[in-house]
Amino acid sequence: MREPVMDNNATSSPPPQSLLERLKDYGQEDAFALWDELSPEERELLVKDIESIDLPRIDRITRCSFRSQGLPAAAIEPVPESSVSTDGKLGVLLLSGGQGTRLGSSDPKGCFNIGLPSGKSLFQLQAERILCLQRLASQSVNEGSTSFKPINWYIMTSPFTDEPTRKFFESHKYFGLEPNQVTFFQQGTIPCVSKDGRFIMETPYRVAKSPDGNGGVYSALKYSSLLEDMSMRGIKFLDCYGVDNALVRVADPTFLGYFIDKGVSAAAKVVRKAYPQEKVGVFVRRGKDGPLSVVEYSELDPSLASAINQQTGRLRFCWSNVCLHMFTLDFLNQVANGLEKDSIYHLAEKKIPSVHGQTVGYKLEQFIFDAFPYAPSTALFEVLREEEFAPVKNANGSNFDTPDSARLLVLRLHARWVVAAGGFLTHSVPLYATGVEVSPLCSYAGENLEATCRGRTFHAPCEISY
Ligand code: UTP
Repeated sequence: MREPVMDNNATSSPPPQSLLERLKDYGQEDAFALWDELSPEERELLVKDIESIDLPRIDRITRCSFRSQGLPAAAIEPVPESSVSTDGKLGVLLLSGGQGTRLGSSDPKGCFNIGLPSGKSLFQLQAERILCLQRLASQSVNEGSTSFKPINWYIMTSPFTDEPTRKFFESHKYFGLEPNQVTFFQQGTIPCVSKDGRFIMETPYRVAKSPDGNGGVYSALKYSSLLEDMSMRGIKFLDCYGVDNALVRVADPTFLGYFIDKGVSAAAKVVRKAYPQEKVGVFVRRGKDGPLSVVEYSELDPSLASAINQQTGRLRFCWSNVCLHMFTLDFLNQVANGLEKDSIYHLAEKKIPSVHGQTVGYKLEQFIFDAFPYAPSTALFEVLREEEFAPVKNANGSNFDTPDSARLLVLRLHARWVVAAGGFLTHSVPLYATGVEVSPLCSYAGENLEATCRGRTFHAPCEISY
C-alpha cells in the first residue's frame, strides 16, 4: 500500500466531479479508488487516461461480449469439400500488433530471426517476396501486358510494437522497398476488465489496456482514413495476413486471381487440419447454409473435432484458418460499422499485471475472421500446408510451431524447389534436419530457379541467392 500523499492541496482536492459521475454511470468509479494516494502529477495522468477512454463504447462492448458468452451457439455445419477450390490463380496488409507473449521475445515478432542460413527476419522475408513479385510484374509489363505499380504494404502495429517496428524498417532501409510504399498505422487498445466487468488498474493512475485483437484492423482502417488512401492509390482488393508465418506468400497473385474469379467480398486460404487436436480454428457454417465463420479450437467440442466424414474418410471439420485473407475494399468500407454496432469481442482470460499483482481478468479482442459473417459472399481457397504455412508461435523447446520447426519447413520446401530445378544437394547432417534456403529475391514460389540450380551441387544448409 502506498503512503497517502502528504500534500495538503492534493489530498484535499477530490476527483473531478463530472468525470466521477460519468464513471459512476458505467459502474467504473473504482478507477478513482486510489485517488487519495496519488501525487498531483499522477492524478493528472489518471484523469487524462480516463478521458481518453470512450466510456459508452467500452461499456457497450463489455456488456455485449459478456452477454454473448452465455448464449448457445448456432449449430455448426462443416464446410463441404465441393465449396473449397483447390485450383485457380493466385495475388497487402500485415497484422503486426500482437504482443507475441508465447514466443517470449521482447521485439515485435516480425523482427525475429528463425535461424535460416541467411539470418533474415520475418519482416525481411516478406519484404523480399514483395520485391520479387514487383520484379516479376515489371517483367510482364516489359512484355507489354499491363502497367506496373509498386505494391503498397500497410503494416498494422499497436502501441506495443509501433516504435520498434518503424525503427527496424528504418535501420534496414526498408529491405530495399521504397519507404513511401510502406505505411504504418496503429490499432486501438481496449481496457482489460475483471470477471465482473470492472476496469483493471495497471498502476494507480493508469487503466490496464491491451491491443483489441487482429480484428481491430477494421476499426483502425476506418479511423485512420487509410481506406480512402488505398482507394486513391487504385487499390480494390486487400490481402491481409499474420506476421508469424515464415512461408507466407505475401500478395499471392494466384489467390488474387481466384478471388477475382469468384467475385466474392471475403476469402480465406485454408489448409487441412493436420490432426484432430491441432490448435487451430476451423471454418464452419453457422447453421445450414448459414454464414462462414471460424470456431476456435478451444470452443470446438472434442467429439466434433475428431468426427470423420464417412464419405471422404477425412475430418468433418478440417478447414484450418491460417490467417491469410483477401477482402474487397468495398467490403472493408462497410464491415467496421457492423462489427462496431454488434460490439461482440472475444473474452480471453489472461493474467493481467495490475496494482494488485497478477490479476485474472479478460482481454477483449476481435479477430480478423469475425468479419466473415458480415460478408455478402465468401470463399475458401485450399493451399498446401507444406508450401504456405510455417507458423512461429511458441519459443524453441515447445512441442510445435516454434522458430526451429518453421525453419525446417522453409528449408525442406526450398530443397524440393532446388531439386525440381535440376540442382543437387549434399549434406553432413541428415537431410530431414536441414535443407537449403532460396532467397525470395531469386524466386517467389519455386519459379525461375533453373538458371541458378541446374547441374549445380549445394551443400546444405546454405542460402541460394543471386
Ligand atoms: P496471435 O493470435 O498469434 O497473437 O496473432 P500474438 O499476439 O502474436 O501472440 P501471443 O498470443 O501473445 O503469443 C496472430 C496474428 O495477429 C496479429 C499478430 O501480430 C499475428 O500476426 N495480432 C494479434 C495483431 O495484429 N493484433 C492483436 O491485437 C493480436
